[in-house]
Amino acid sequence: MLQRNILIVDDDKNNVLVLGDFLKGFRLLEVSNVRETMQTAALSPFELIIINMQTKGLDTIHLIESLKRLPLTSSIPVVVLGNGVNTYVEDRAFELGVDDYINLKSSISTISSRILRVIDYQRCLKEIALKDEIAEDKIERMQKQIIESFASIIEGRDSSTGAHIKRTAAYVEIVIRGLIEAGDYLDELTDDFCESCVAAAPLHDIGKITVSDVILCKPGKLTVDEFMIMQTHARIGGKMIAETLSGMESSLMLSTAVDMATYHHEKWNGTGYPFNLVREDIPLCARIMAIADVFDALVSKRCYKEPISYEQAFDIIRDESGRHFDPKIVEVFMKLKDEVVKASDCLYPSENGV
Ligand SMILES: [Fe+2]
Repeated sequence: MLQRNILIVDDDKNNVLVLGDFLKGFRLLEVSNVRETMQTAALSPFELIIINMQTKGLDTIHLIESLKRLPLTSSIPVVVLGNGVNTYVEDRAFELGVDDYINLKSSISTISSRILRVIDYQRCLKEIALKDEIAEDKIERMQKQIIESFASIIEGRDSSTGAHIKRTAAYVEIVIRGLIEAGDYLDELTDDFCESCVAAAPLHDIGKITVSDVILCKPGKLTVDEFMIMQTHARIGGKMIAETLSGMESSLMLSTAVDMATYHHEKWNGTGYPFNLVREDIPLCARIMAIADVFDALVSKRCYKEPISYEQAFDIIRDESGRHFDPKIVEVFMKLKDEVVKASDCLYPSENGV
């Protein structure tokens, strides 16, 4: 419930009493100098501060400056009651962000009406801000639901792939933490970027839903043609995400999801697909995704292969440093072997059997 307190800076009790009669429903707290005002305003919630600039010994501008400087009081609306003569104070007060300057020569009815108008206006602004906040939360929830829906579509298609996307998201998180601890790529690894990488990781193979079951679940080596079709999942996945999530509030989330899906099969030495990108031309999120993706594929049972042991998989990852993978990411991945294994064992330990 909104507080209905007004702080009034005035040394004339009669003024406060008269104003109090017109401002029904509000509790007026009275102070008479800068120190009292700052202390009181910072401790309790007020809908408004009224400053009578004729208060004895009061430096009105100094008080407004102090209120606007302090984070606890800067957002409280301020109305100045002035004599209409000192235009410097009036101009400066507006420059500092007061909400109204009312001439004390006006009738008490006019003064109170203008005060109430300021209060109503501020309430409207708060309500709009609250609605915006609720709408943003709703959009964010919808985005998460879309991502989860996409992920469950993949999971429904192939249960081993579904487990794979959850594990790879866990590896992505571990690698990002490791890179930050190692001081690598700190310019790119902002909080928003890291959050986007972990959230978008489950979508990296979304393009596979366009690949036929015959190819996706073939229990043997793919032919050249079949492999070419399989390769299309990267480009198609990126396009699908871009088209489906183009209305996303967070463009970083969208670009990260698109980059992860499109480039997660690119290789550091330029021999990957779909665009043969090299080294740091491959987006960082995709370079991280690549290592998580390959490691999990190596230690997992698939329709076309048996799993290999964690140690064998780590050996392959290390050997591919500077060829398939970004050397800095490999270094971090090897350093965090225990965490990677732990995450893999926690998520579907029975599936690997290694
Ligand atoms: Fe893939």
